Amino acid sequence: MAQKNSHLTKEYQGLWKEHGLDAVVLKRKKKQKKTRGIPKAPVGTKSLAEIQIWLGECRRCGLCKERDKIVFGSGNPKAKILFIGEGPGKAEDKSGVPFVGRAGVLLDKIIEAMSLTRDEVYIANIVKCRPPKNRVPTEEEIDRCLPFLQSQIKVIQPKMIVTLGLTASSILIGDDSPMGQLRGKFHKVAWSPSIPLMATYHPAYLLRNPAAKKVVWDDMKQVLKKMKESH
Ligand code: URA
Repeated sequence: MAQKNSHLTKEYQGLWKEHGLDAVVLKRKKKQKKTRGIPKAPVGTKSLAEIQIWLGECRRCGLCKERDKIVFGSGNPKAKILFIGEGPGKAEDKSGVPFVGRAGVLLDKIIEAMSLTRDEVYIANIVKCRPPKNRVPTEEEIDRCLPFLQSQIKVIQPKMIVTLGLTASSILIGDDSPMGQLRGKFHKVAWSPSIPLMATYHPAYLLRNPAAKKVVWDDMKQVLKKMKESH
């Protein structure tokens, strides 16, 4: 059940109001310690280009200080599958394009193995600016950035979301359980339950643990099967 967003800072509430957002708080599932503010998409937003204009040269959190480029997301605006990672790394910060570094090369291979291309799917991240030294984004950074991803999801209307790694999975599902428990099964997007979501390991994890590639492929096979069934 949605509650009033009383825990949010005045500034953040102001940001939401400024863009006609109706802020709500979703209760986290069992293991999540706190509630997270999840705003509804801006009223009247119809395209990714409009979201990008709304984002602008964003300075809403400290990540703007060290970033080179904002990594908005890329791919097919009408994609059936949306992949969501954690945040840009060095190569992405330089290019402005998600998943172009080593982990990106592996993600490309996963997409190719699914008989898809980058142009057919959409790829985005939880935060759009690189956290220094690739650290995990903070709660505040995530809270500031999430309205834009949420709006992208609303515009794209994917048939399936694949979350890559724990940060994206726990935020989208609303459950802080470990990756080993979240992966391999279908969940629902916490604020948009009509969209099925598969959580799987992050490609960067696969670079360190190549044995887990098989598990990710099992997860992707489930995704393809469900997509086929829903046709
Ligand atoms: N890791 C991510 O989570 N996202 C990127 O865009 C690149 C690496």
